[in-house]
Amino acid sequence: MAVIIDGKNLAKKIRSNLKVECDKLKEKGIIPKLAVIMVGDNPASKVYVKNKSIACNEVGIEYKEYLLDANIKQENLLDLIKKLNNDETVNGILLQSPIPEHLNINEAFKAITYLKDVDGFTPSSVGKLCIGEDTFVSCTPLGVIKMFEEYNIDLNGKDVVILGRSNIVGRPLIQCCLQKNATVTVCHSKTKSLEEHTKRADVIISAIGKPKFVTADMVKNNVVIIDVGINRDENGKLVGDVDFENVEKKASYITPVPGGVGPMTIAMLMNNVIKATKEQYKEKLML
Ligand code: GUN
Repeated sequence: MAVIIDGKNLAKKIRSNLKVECDKLKEKGIIPKLAVIMVGDNPASKVYVKNKSIACNEVGIEYKEYLLDANIKQENLLDLIKKLNNDETVNGILLQSPIPEHLNINEAFKAITYLKDVDGFTPSSVGKLCIGEDTFVSCTPLGVIKMFEEYNIDLNGKDVVILGRSNIVGRPLIQCCLQKNATVTVCHSKTKSLEEHTKRADVIISAIGKPKFVTADMVKNNVVIIDVGINRDENGKLVGDVDFENVEKKASYITPVPGGVGPMTIAMLMNNVIKATKEQYKEKLML
């Protein structure tokens, strides 16, 4: 039987520590503020954005949402980003993805100033992460690393297999795990003999968005399983990428869905907003 990694509880603890930090900033007259841009009305994004606003409220971060029409032109989106870059009351900017296909999301991410890049998606943040400098790290990978740290799961010399190569999760995770001295393999839709990789993995991090894709016969005993997937099964139930019920019997540690990585992602966004605010007021705070 595996240890269940309780992301919900850990995220709650992190949010409560961040609230203390946020209160200290407020005592100095600084109110951290997050601006969230959503284009169109993607139902999943609406849920994510709502959860982000609830978390901001709990921590004491001011939250402002910009809902843009699905037909907006690229230049108008970029204009809003530039306006928020120059707005001194805004400390973090988040462009919720996905956005409609006629828009270029990479160009939009690139327009966000590095100082307010709480998602860690700008080329400056990604580049700094790759050379091991302190920077904003994408929230889900950062949440996964915090889980390893909290549960004393040492990645030094371990075989970590990441399933999925998205810019949001898989790719930044490569760097995060490398920094912890893991041997990292990334599997994706073109990978041959996927099971050969998963079967020798000490740690599997799955972020592919396929319900119950990772089954017990694909993993070795005592594997550590981090399930980033949030999917609906045939009955509409929320499930991860991993067949939790059966894989749990072989694993040493495993994250549940829901209550695993999801709450950590949002807690890390709060972490990054406070980090950005402190950085922007470094001199005033004499840090
Ligand atoms: N869409 C799904 N996950 C994320 C995320 O972490 N950040 C943003 N901006 N959009 C997302």
